[in-house]
Amino acid sequence: MRYDLIIKNGTIVTPDKSFKGDAAVYKGKIDKTGTLDPEDTADEIYDASGKHILPGIIDAHVHFRDPGLTKKEDFETGSIAAVMGGITTVADMPNVVPVTSTVERFNGKIKIAKEKSYADFALFALLNNDNLKETEELKESGALGFKVFFGTSTGDIASPSTKVLLKHLERCSLRTGFHCESNEINSFYLSECRSAIFGKENTGHMLSEARPVFSEALAIQTVVCYAKYTEAKIHIHHVTSQDGSLIVAEAKQKGTDITAETCPHYLLFDADKCEHKVYPPIRSESHRRGLWDAIYKGTIDIIASDHAPHTTAEKSLPVWEEPAGLSGVETSVPLMLNEVNKGSLSLNDYVRIASEAPAKTWGIYPQKGNLLPGADADFTIVDMNMEKTILADELHSKNRTSPFDGTKVKGFPVATIIRGKIVMQNGELKGTKGYGILVSPK
Ligand code: DOR
Ligand code: ZN
Repeated sequence: MRYDLIIKNGTIVTPDKSFKGDAAVYKGKIDKTGTLDPEDTADEIYDASGKHILPGIIDAHVHFRDPGLTKKEDFETGSIAAVMGGITTVADMPNVVPVTSTVERFNGKIKIAKEKSYADFALFALLNNDNLKETEELKESGALGFKVFFGTSTGDIASPSTKVLLKHLERCSLRTGFHCESNEINSFYLSECRSAIFGKENTGHMLSEARPVFSEALAIQTVVCYAKYTEAKIHIHHVTSQDGSLIVAEAKQKGTDITAETCPHYLLFDADKCEHKVYPPIRSESHRRGLWDAIYKGTIDIIASDHAPHTTAEKSLPVWEEPAGLSGVETSVPLMLNEVNKGSLSLNDYVRIASEAPAKTWGIYPQKGNLLPGADADFTIVDMNMEKTILADELHSKNRTSPFDGTKVKGFPVATIIRGKIVMQNGELKGTKGYGILVSPK
C-alpha cells in the first residue's frame, strides 16, 4: 500500500515492550506498526535507524498565558517550545486573564489556540464560585477537565466554596484537577518564615518552610475526602512530597477514582540545594526520593512539566517579589530521557507516565497516548545516545529562563510528529502556526 509517511528501522517503544520495527501512517492516523509488507511504500520516509519511536509525549500541565499574560508567553511561543522539546499534545491551564471560566471565554481560547498552536492542544476550564451553571456547557464545548485552585497561587484565584465544590463534584462526569495547598497553613507559616528564624536558611529550604508539606498534605487529604463522598473523578496536580503521595496511595487502595502527577523539578531538585521558586515548593531530598518511589509503585500516574513562565525581569526579582513558576515544556523530555539513561526508570515506564497515562487520565485515549492502529499518528522520536547541554538562551519560550540552564543530558528528542506531519526534525522547526487541533474527551 502507499502511505503518507513511513517511519523505518527504529525501535518501537510501548509501555509493555520495545521491538525493532516500522510505523505506517495514512491520513494522519497510525495504520500499522511492526513489520511492513515489502510492497508498502510512502510519500515520505523517515529513517529512524538507531532511534527509538515513542508514542507522542503529552504535557498535561502547561500555562501558555494566552490571553492576557502574553508578556510571559503566548500560544505560539509556548507551542513552538513544546514541539521543539518533543511534545505532541499540551493541556493548557485556565489561570489566564480573564480566567477561563465561561463558555464565551473558553471558545475565545479555542480560537486563540487554533490560530497560533503548532501542537495539538487540550484546554482546562476553571471551576470558581460563579460558573456552576456553565460547567455542563463547558464540557460540551470541549473542556478536558476542570481545574480547582484549592489554595491560591499565581493569579490569586480563590477556591470555590464548599457548597459549589460539592455540587460540582456530585454531578460532573469529567475529571477535576486540584492544585493542593491550604491557604490558612501557608499564611501562618509565611509570616513565621519572613522573620529572622528562617533568615539563615537557604532560599529553597525557606520557600518549602513558607508553604510546608503539611499544607499540601492537608489539602490532598481534604480533596480525597470530597472525592470519597461524592464519588467524583479527581486528579492531584504537581504532587511534591512523600506525604502527599502516601495519601494518594491510600485513596487509590480504597477505591477512590484518583490520579496524580508530579514534575521534573520535584524529581530532580533538592530544596536544600536550590533556589527555584515554584508553588507548591520543591522539597528536601527525602521527599524527592519518595516521589520516585511513588512513580515506581504506580501511585503517581503522570509526569507533566507545569510549564509556568514569567518574564526574565520578573524571575530576577528578590525572592518575595519574584512570581512562582518555572519554565519546563521544552526541557521535560530530555531531562526524563537522561533519567532513563541513568537507570532511574525504563523507557517503557517513561512512555507509560508521559504518554499513555496522561491520555487515559484525561479521557483522550485511544485517540492519543498509544501506537495502536487508528490512533492519531503522533510520535516522539528520540536519540538515546545524543548528549547535549540545556541552555536557557537556546530555548524557544518567549522568556528564556530555565532552572535547568547548564544541565548536561544524554537522550534527546530528534523529531516530533503530529498526526503524520513532521513538525520538528533535528532541532529545526518544520511545523506551522495554526496546525494544532483541539483534543477533548469523547
Ligand atoms: O508556581 C506556580 N506557578 N504555581 C501555580 O500554581 C501557578 C503557576 C503559574 O501560573 O505561574
Ligand atoms: Zn500549574
